[in-house]
Amino acid sequence: MDPSTIALIQQSFADLRAPAIDVAEVFYAELFAVDPSCRPMFGSDMQVQRRKLVSALNYMVHALHAPEQVPGSVRKLAEAHVGYGVTPEHYTSFGIALLRTLKKVLGSEFTPELCDAWATWFQIVARAMKEAAYDHVPEKAMELAWWRGLLIDETPPLALAPA
Ligand code: HEM
Repeated sequence: MDPSTIALIQQSFADLRAPAIDVAEVFYAELFAVDPSCRPMFGSDMQVQRRKLVSALNYMVHALHAPEQVPGSVRKLAEAHVGYGVTPEHYTSFGIALLRTLKKVLGSEFTPELCDAWATWFQIVARAMKEAAYDHVPEKAMELAWWRGLLIDETPPLALAPA
């Protein structure tokens, strides 16, 4: 990741916390629409859901400071996720929901460049988590155009490809 891409993501994270829109509400609505199988993992208490999302975003953004440490630092987190019932496919659903949330909350500030930056970074972290926790992780990363396309077409993809 080059420094300008890192700065882009960090700035957008700060912007995400500013608006009156409830980011967690948008995120979980997107996530459960894309992949209803995620629903039981998060319970129904909005406070708790919010805390989980903030934890995930905080992790993502802090890890930007030391990307080379990501594979080593995600091991425990990734293994804990297996215990929550998370499968490799769920990471794709999570990524789609994350990008759609950024688009909804940031609006026109969510530029194609920023979309690419988040999609790239999400895939790096998600891949590291999957490699740490599962025996079989599909090789292929999704093209950035695929992630951008998801934001144009709001309908959930019929077949979710692994991130
Ligand atoms: C890059 C991807 C992800 C990151 C960085 C991430 C990060 C985190 C972090 C930091 C926590 C808090 C852990 C703790 O309190 O010990 C958490 C909790 C959780 N995550 Fe993730 N996560 C990711 C993907 C996912 C996915 C794909 C799912 C399922 C769809 C998921 C489901 C959960 C659940 C259910 C918890 C709550 C566990 C609990 O407190 O009961 N996460 N995540």
